[in-house]
Amino acid sequence: MQTVRIARQGSVAVATIDNPPVNALGAALRRDLATAVTEVMADPEVEALVLAAAGRAFIAGADISEFGKPLAQPILPEVLDLIENAAKPVVAAIQGVALGGGLEVALACHGRVALPAAKLGLPEIKLGIIPGAGGTQRLPRLIGAAKAFPMMLSGEPVAAQKALDLGLVDRVVEGDLVAAAVALAQELAAKGRPRKTGEIAEKLTQADREAFEALAKDATAKSGDMPNAMALIEAVRGAFTLPLAEGLAHERALFARLVVDERSKALRHAFFAEREAAKVPGIDDSVKPRPIARAAVIGAGTMGGGIAMCFANAGIPVTLIETSQEQVEKGHARIRDTYGFSVKRGSMTEATREQRMALITPAVGIAAAAEADIVIEAAFEEMGVKREIFGALDKVAKPGAVLASNTSYLDLTEIAAATTRPADVLGMHFFSPANVMKLLEIVRPEGVAADVVATAIALGRRLGKVPVVVGNCFGFVGNRMLEQRTRAAERLLVAGALPHEVDAALTGFGFKMGPFAMSDLAGNDIGWRSRKSRGKTAAVADAICERGWFGQKTGRGYYLYPEGARAGQRDPEVEALIADVSAKEGVARRSFTSEEILARLLDPMVNEGARILEEGIAARSGDIDIVWLTGYNWPAWRGGPMHWAEAVGLDVIVRRLEEQAAESGDASLEPAPLLRRLAAEGKGFSALKAA
Ligand code: 3HC
Repeated sequence: MQTVRIARQGSVAVATIDNPPVNALGAALRRDLATAVTEVMADPEVEALVLAAAGRAFIAGADISEFGKPLAQPILPEVLDLIENAAKPVVAAIQGVALGGGLEVALACHGRVALPAAKLGLPEIKLGIIPGAGGTQRLPRLIGAAKAFPMMLSGEPVAAQKALDLGLVDRVVEGDLVAAAVALAQELAAKGRPRKTGEIAEKLTQADREAFEALAKDATAKSGDMPNAMALIEAVRGAFTLPLAEGLAHERALFARLVVDERSKALRHAFFAEREAAKVPGIDDSVKPRPIARAAVIGAGTMGGGIAMCFANAGIPVTLIETSQEQVEKGHARIRDTYGFSVKRGSMTEATREQRMALITPAVGIAAAAEADIVIEAAFEEMGVKREIFGALDKVAKPGAVLASNTSYLDLTEIAAATTRPADVLGMHFFSPANVMKLLEIVRPEGVAADVVATAIALGRRLGKVPVVVGNCFGFVGNRMLEQRTRAAERLLVAGALPHEVDAALTGFGFKMGPFAMSDLAGNDIGWRSRKSRGKTAAVADAICERGWFGQKTGRGYYLYPEGARAGQRDPEVEALIADVSAKEGVARRSFTSEEILARLLDPMVNEGARILEEGIAARSGDIDIVWLTGYNWPAWRGGPMHWAEAVGLDVIVRRLEEQAAESGDASLEPAPLLRRLAAEGKGFSALKAA
């Protein structure tokens, strides 16, 4: 298929890139682009070329799915050399996103015109790499390194108007973009030989160098452990110290090294897994979501308030419902305060805060949910409470309203059975803080209507979330696996490790917090209550709670928090208590290395993940990874637990689990049949996709 078509507008050729869905620069497009440029330059009747694009993206960048494989000729830098060195001017007409290699194409052109809605950026850093087709050399030449470097370091795109201010585009036009690009192309042609971006030198001044070096120093202090951030500094420095050709070669060598790094592989896995999670078995485009114009949230606690904010942030009016005026006012005030922090920080204006607050209507009593197209219940986590609310909702909600529970563990089928319309009931599990965390677990109980699931997915996207559809079981995907980690952490304490050692192993792995610091922050009583309701025990955790050491809120938990300190300090009494439990259980305490601790914390999670796949609770291992990446702060560059397990080797995980099961006598640590089978076949979880 031809991915570039050429037409003529007078003396200017217009090459339109058309490689759906997003004009990624795969082998065919690179070839067709090179052919188009060569043909147009050889045509004596043409004086200039406009590069335009069909569809929503100008060019989304290099084709990420080709990374790590041998690249077919011509590679992108070769195509860009052709463009930059063309004897006649080439102008980019940017109608949508120009990202990564897409912006690099535009940078190699001699002029750039954009629609106001266009966005331009070099997001490679988010994939663990750096620009590999001249971005680090041409962008600093065009706009100065002090402005180019932060763009590449954050990876965030800029809007067209900002790009104009930066000098990244020449014109922003409303209306006929191609006509405007043709006009610029003609003007440039009239001036004779086009100016190459690579030849621009005036922005790379001594002052620019100094400003860049200051930013680089700052970035080194913050991100010294990120090889791509460090490579970016090196590459940009090359723009000052090396001639263009050498700077380009240097950049490409750094890019090539990063592309094969495990960290970049993990980030690419996450990119595709997130998009795959959007494809839900049984929910295709023919299933139309129900329209949502108004929402209600039941429960104005921290969670309910955060969910109400999600609606307000998306411009959807929402009724916030409580059982008493006092409670709803308290919840409403807390939302105002939370927005207030953003106003104070300067990330939100007072006017925006007022607009958002105006979308939230506090109310008392479930009858206030009558007008809502969707109701999300975020009340106390107890089946009786939930069933009562859903029974009452059934009587007041309008026909066709979606009824969702934000439960983090409970059985949705049982909740749905409290209504006469179970097909309209599902789980929408937000993560705390709900207005910040990206994950939305959509729990699909048997019997829920497909369009209700589609509505939750579409709404999740509108709220800026990453929706992942999961099956109905205790704790769903995320909390079910988290429970394994929590149990493992307790086992480690009894076996000989101390809280700070366990936490340090996990933060060393890349988590922001270890399990004990996390538990102290959330409140140790939450897990205690949950265990008690299920008849479960955990000797150390229970003993800590029996003493009232619930964590930060009580000044002590697994750690001490003198005078409200945020960071916990080791507590000799807790350590003695742990030793006591070990002694009572007849365990000879021993020390553990960080690697051993990690294996003991994470392998049981992977095992549970395998069971989750076996049971069809998650459709793909990538869905599980996305849950952990977006809901539990799993370090992005480790790609999620299932990806991590594959990188370690499933055979290694199986062997370690067998050892742990034998040592602890805990049969739940025996490797899941699926895990055993894949390990024996030498396959990874991702092999299941094809099945
Ligand atoms: N390569 C391969 N496939 C890509 C792609 C890319 N660069 N960008 C998007 N896609 C695919 C997606 O996987 C998805 O495929 P699917 O339909 O089969 O799931 C499809 O295009 C549509 O993508 P989205 O669902 O994300 O569509 P949106 O409209 O929501 O977003 C986008 C479009 C803003 C372009 C977003 O896809 C995006 O951010 N893409 C990645 C951009 C990027 O990182 N570019 C840099 C690449 S690295 C590079 O260029 C190196 C260079 O310096 C040499």
